[in-house]
Amino acid sequence: MSYREEYERSMKDPSGFWRDQAKALEWFKAPQTILTTDADGLGHWFADGEMNTAYMALDHHVKHGRGNQTAIIYDSPVTDTKRKYTYAELTDEVARTAGMMADLGVVKGDRVIIYMPMIPEAVIAMLAVARLGAIHSVVFGGFAPPELAQRIDDSTPKVILTASCGIEIKRVIEYMPLLNKAIDLAQHKPQSCVVFQRPQCSAPLVAGRDHDWATLLAKAEAVGCTPVKGSDPLYILYTSGTTGKPKGVVRENGGHAVALNYSMKAIYNVEAGDVFWAASDVGWVVGHSYIVYGPLLHGCTTIVYEGKPIMTPDAGALWRIIAEYGVKSFFTAPTAFRAVKKEDPDAKLMANYDLSKLQVIFSAGERLDPPTQEWLTEKSGKTVVDHWWQTETGWGITANLWGVEPKPVKFGSSTLPTPGFDVRILDEHGNQLAANEQGYIAIKLPLPPSCMNRIWGDDNKFRESYLQFLPGYYTTGDGGYIDEDGYVFVMGRVDDVINVAGHRLSTGEIEEVVAGHPLVAECAVIARDDELKGQVPMGLVVLKSGATIEDAVLQKELIARVREAIGAITCYKDTVILKRLPKTRSGKTLRKTLNKIVNGQEYQVPSTIDDPGVIPEIIDILKEKRFVK
Ligand code: COA
Ligand code: AMP
Repeated sequence: MSYREEYERSMKDPSGFWRDQAKALEWFKAPQTILTTDADGLGHWFADGEMNTAYMALDHHVKHGRGNQTAIIYDSPVTDTKRKYTYAELTDEVARTAGMMADLGVVKGDRVIIYMPMIPEAVIAMLAVARLGAIHSVVFGGFAPPELAQRIDDSTPKVILTASCGIEIKRVIEYMPLLNKAIDLAQHKPQSCVVFQRPQCSAPLVAGRDHDWATLLAKAEAVGCTPVKGSDPLYILYTSGTTGKPKGVVRENGGHAVALNYSMKAIYNVEAGDVFWAASDVGWVVGHSYIVYGPLLHGCTTIVYEGKPIMTPDAGALWRIIAEYGVKSFFTAPTAFRAVKKEDPDAKLMANYDLSKLQVIFSAGERLDPPTQEWLTEKSGKTVVDHWWQTETGWGITANLWGVEPKPVKFGSSTLPTPGFDVRILDEHGNQLAANEQGYIAIKLPLPPSCMNRIWGDDNKFRESYLQFLPGYYTTGDGGYIDEDGYVFVMGRVDDVINVAGHRLSTGEIEEVVAGHPLVAECAVIARDDELKGQVPMGLVVLKSGATIEDAVLQKELIARVREAIGAITCYKDTVILKRLPKTRSGKTLRKTLNKIVNGQEYQVPSTIDDPGVIPEIIDILKEKRFVK
């Protein structure tokens, strides 16, 4: 089958196409209706099917002779630990962990927050929640207490699962003080917390609320899988939007399992038994889809890596893992490749490892810049594929279908639309643009399986955020173009979302924190281009009338505020004090113009500017501070 035939079939007969893909999984009751539209007009896939995602990902494989195959390899250079779990061992561990949660009263539909580092117990916890038909919400361990508190209030979990600490290279990060602070800040209080004590740090437990994981688990009995409907939620994952409040993306069980299982072969060309590695974190969508669910649904071996691409111990870390475990398909974010390239430009460390089992290298999370793609292709001798996706979709919107028909790579392009995604470039009135013309990247409805169709706790928000702007389409928030061969080029966000080292952040949210400083009257947070991290946020602030503070002092205070409110991953560093911000006559800050100025791009001053004199004034200040030449 050619890529074109596969794609065309998914467009002409979506129900038939996805019905066939659904047959690859073991349902308790096979779905009869493939795509249904609810009273709100939103599409749900496999709504009447009965299933359990953890069953499909674990018990099914044990039943069919994969019990002795390795399911998870845990490799942790930061603790000098390596451990393997077979499918049988993992199934048993998950069933008992589900029993442990059932003992705490967790039932189908309850929410459970998982705030954990990259250890196997985080994966076990996710699958155990799924086994109970409950809904997990994993919160990235690098988020600060206020971020965790927001997620506690929004998802109202019955139980929170955590660990005593995470390890950042050599630094032990204690989780309990962060969790306690978040629970203090939140209105909603969980009934219980279960703490996995790690040897690197023993956490004090709060009496009446906290339980020791090992003690509870020792008493727990294995429980079976609770059947859920295909349209029941599997998880909520919060992501940054344009406002200060993160959005809870709801993922339904049925569409998610079908799409991910399909993608493992179609995109990544792996079979059951192959080793697949996504170097990410379970706190992000890539981790959910391709550390946990995709590989396990497909019967592959997945790797839980507690380390960095560099420094643990060196820039050969990725190649070491690929060689040691015979990884066939590998996936990470461009920032990781840039970090390796910076440390080891001649890829001398790569030469120490046998990468012969590796077929293709996949990249996503941000645009893979052509110089990095060229470097990696040349040094590895492998095909390097960029593919584009979002938390909202859970899998690639565009990709090179390596398991269907590999297409030539075009540097700078995230390749061709994936089956099910009708990708269009539109102007602001919804008119389709010609080849090579830049516009809004939109997806014609209906969205394929796995894509979100609601925001947790706010039925209208999905419509407002994604469907209203271009009726009949899902607006991705990204801009770009499609060339004459149908290749999609994603050039960046068209909203206030930025991407720092593959982590999605909202400038609006950072602005709220910066503007909360007692001496700051107003501010604009914009993204500066960064060689390693792609983008880093920078604050342009105006002080309250009469306020004085040294630049360096303000900068230090703002860095501390952002780290405490959002987390160190924000990488907020630079602050420049301006006399005033450029505004339109109606009072809107001209962020796009500021962005272009700071990044040395050509800019046009909009005719709606209130006072054009402000632009040269700002440029002088930025020159003096050496932010522009
Ligand atoms: N818990 C607590 N803190 C964390 C954390 C976590 N899970 N993850 C990151 N941080 C902290 C870091 O310790 C660092 O703190 P510091 O400023 O006090 O040193 C800060 O957040 C920034 O971290 P990071 O973005 O990891 O930057 P770095 O300079 O330490 O490392 C890279 C640079 C490129 C190696 C790193 O960004 C990286 O591995 N990126 C890949 C990201 C990725 O896989 N994204 C995939 C999403 S698909
Ligand atoms: P997240 O939801 O965290 O996965 O971030 C999604 C956003 O990351 C997208 O909307 C894009 O802006 C960006 N992104 C992800 N992958 C790519 C890619 N391959 N090319 C360009 N941008 C990407």
